[in-house]
Amino acid sequence: MSMLLTNIVELVTNDPAHGDGLGIVPDAAVVVQAGRIAWTGPAVSAPSTDAAVDLGGRCVIPGFVDSHSHTVFAGDRAAEFAARMTGEPYTGGGIATTVAATRAASEDTLRARGQALVREMLAQGTTTVEIKSGYGQDVVTESRMLRIARELTPETTYLGAHTVPAEYADDRAGYLRLVTGPMLAACAPHARWVDVFCEPAAPTAFDEDESRAVLRAGLRAGLLARVHGNQLSAGPGVRLAVEVGAASVDHCTHLTDADVDALAGSWGSGPGPTAGGGGPGPGTVATLLPAVEFSTRSPYPDARRLLAAGVPVALATDCNPGSGYSSSMSFVVALAVREMRMSPAEALWSATAGGAAALRRDDVGHLRVGARADLTVLDAPSHTYLAYRPGVPLVSEVWKDGNRA
Ligand code: NIG
Ligand code: FE
Repeated sequence: MSMLLTNIVELVTNDPAHGDGLGIVPDAAVVVQAGRIAWTGPAVSAPSTDAAVDLGGRCVIPGFVDSHSHTVFAGDRAAEFAARMTGEPYTGGGIATTVAATRAASEDTLRARGQALVREMLAQGTTTVEIKSGYGQDVVTESRMLRIARELTPETTYLGAHTVPAEYADDRAGYLRLVTGPMLAACAPHARWVDVFCEPAAPTAFDEDESRAVLRAGLRAGLLARVHGNQLSAGPGVRLAVEVGAASVDHCTHLTDADVDALAGSWGSGPGPTAGGGGPGPGTVATLLPAVEFSTRSPYPDARRLLAAGVPVALATDCNPGSGYSSSMSFVVALAVREMRMSPAEALWSATAGGAAALRRDDVGHLRVGARADLTVLDAPSHTYLAYRPGVPLVSEVWKDGNRA
């Protein structure tokens, strides 16, 4: 059965066939069939379909792709946040608090929390989400987190190497053996990705050699790599991510010229999948997480420097109880525009097609023919309203795989 979604004042396709940048079609319609996009174009030339839905002159964008979240956990760290707002720095030390709460929680509690957060994301227009482990830091809890995450999304990431837990404080090598051995074996069946918090500036996170060992073990187990890098310092994370062929390096708050060159170089001589161009490629995307800088009161990453160098940029929430507890991609887009000087079009591309590139997915993040019919309907005349009306719930409905969610 084919379905026409029509009376769309502005349709964002990210389809170069409809022009550069966001591939915008004014006064548009979309045909959905078998959960996929079958046609997009001006409403006046729409083909006939079995059924039709009038979207009331709203704006339609591809569902947001949130390529970085930690949405399976227990407890909260509101007190840590409040302390930060009166001057305490963020060091990653609070992760141990969430590890203790997550280990102590029942599987049902963790599942219910994860489900609620993913529902909250969907209601705000996020149709693809990545979820990491990393608050278990033992074999049982890490694999439990990933089993639950796998029920919620195919984009699951093994982050046993988030921090070294207290019981291994004097035996980092022993924890690394666990993470690259029995814990990896228990987690790999439930994960697509391996990740590491590569941050020599944080005493409980991992240095370059440790991070390389974690990533290489994950790759040997058949996982694909992504990296938490350069969040608190201009450490080795970005260059290590490029070295191992990671799909994405996330945070990128502190970058050297060599880091930017390495990211640009990972896409070869041509440009990566930037607005108006190609699809996922073999290079490393820079994923920026400005809700973390907001919530840790830190300087924002230099998005313009990355864009000027031709590095594909993704935007994601990093939704987690410590460094940033927002599930809102609209908020992230608004921050990217206001605080990182991305244009509204660049920010929306990065929150959709950019996130898809960071997950090496070509079926989401755009509305080209054949894409999943994942659409977010905005009660607004244009995508610019995402940043122009920050904090306003503009998402009026969401379609996932061709069905109203
Ligand atoms: O992506 N930086 C490391 N990990 C998370 C924060 C986790 C936490 O503070 O609980 C992040 O920011
Ligand atoms: Fe993170």
